[in-house]
Amino acid sequence: MAISDTDFERLRDFIYTICGMYFHSSKKFFLESRLVRRMEATGAKTCSDYYQLLKSMRGAEELKYLMDEITTNETYFFRNVPQLNALETKLLPEIVEVKNKMGFRKLRIWSAASSSGEEAYTLAMILLEKRTTLLKDWIIEIVGTDINETVIAQAKQGIYNAYSVRNIPEMYKRKYIREENGSFILSPDVKKFVTFSKLNLYDDSKMIFMKTFDVIFCANVLIYFDTASKSKVVQHFYNNLQPYGYFFVGQSESLHGVNDKFKTVHFPGGFTYKK
Ligand SMILES: C[S@@+](CC[C@H](N)C(=O)[O-])C[C@H]1O[C@@H](n2cnc3c(N)ncnc32)[C@H](O)[C@@H]1O
Repeated sequence: MAISDTDFERLRDFIYTICGMYFHSSKKFFLESRLVRRMEATGAKTCSDYYQLLKSMRGAEELKYLMDEITTNETYFFRNVPQLNALETKLLPEIVEVKNKMGFRKLRIWSAASSSGEEAYTLAMILLEKRTTLLKDWIIEIVGTDINETVIAQAKQGIYNAYSVRNIPEMYKRKYIREENGSFILSPDVKKFVTFSKLNLYDDSKMIFMKTFDVIFCANVLIYFDTASKSKVVQHFYNNLQPYGYFFVGQSESLHGVNDKFKTVHFPGGFTYKK
């Protein structure tokens, strides 16, 4: 079934107002195929029927399924090694020094748009290794959030496939991953530092409660937003980051033209942002 340009634009704009993801006309084929699947599953005969369903009392339920269809959830452990090295060797010791001076021995990290949890658990493994040295007696809180409830459920399970774990250095794999019948099961020692919940980054009423993070990762998600929706979300990250904290985006992303308050901090192989 083909969707007319007018119907495409109406549904595209609806999706944008809900979650900030913007589907340019060049993505019409992608969105169309996903919408058609949902129309078939719900019995909606026309795009208008489907649009009315989304706006009805049952809309919130249907939106969950639509989000499952239209979000891209690609992720894996140790995805951006230069970032992780910089965090471990330079930025984390800096943060710890500042917080030690203030007498706060608690570290809060947010993996925003965490998908199935690989980024959040990667950070947990790295921090876990510091529990006898830099982070001795520290409370560690890692929070993973995503709009897609299916990937959040997978993250909570902590069971992965070979593709996901392929970049984990041997030392971490030996300590924290157990293989069983072709699945890779994360140790409870890592899981206990991380909590996952559903959060729409475009929902101002929820974003204002995500306070006081020392480090925020928001990688490989804002590429799906337009400049206006990126700016809105990034402003929340700015507000929710501690003054001495760091904000990371994906390898091919930048805040150029999106936010001019964050300052760029370079490190070997990449950069991060600071207030
Ligand atoms: C490609 S994954 C990135 C995963 C991980 N951050 C990484 O870099 O490996 C993008 C994730 O963004 C999520 N996402 C898209 N729009 C979102 C929104 N408005 N709020 C929260 N999460 C969103 C998707 O569900 C998806 O899991």
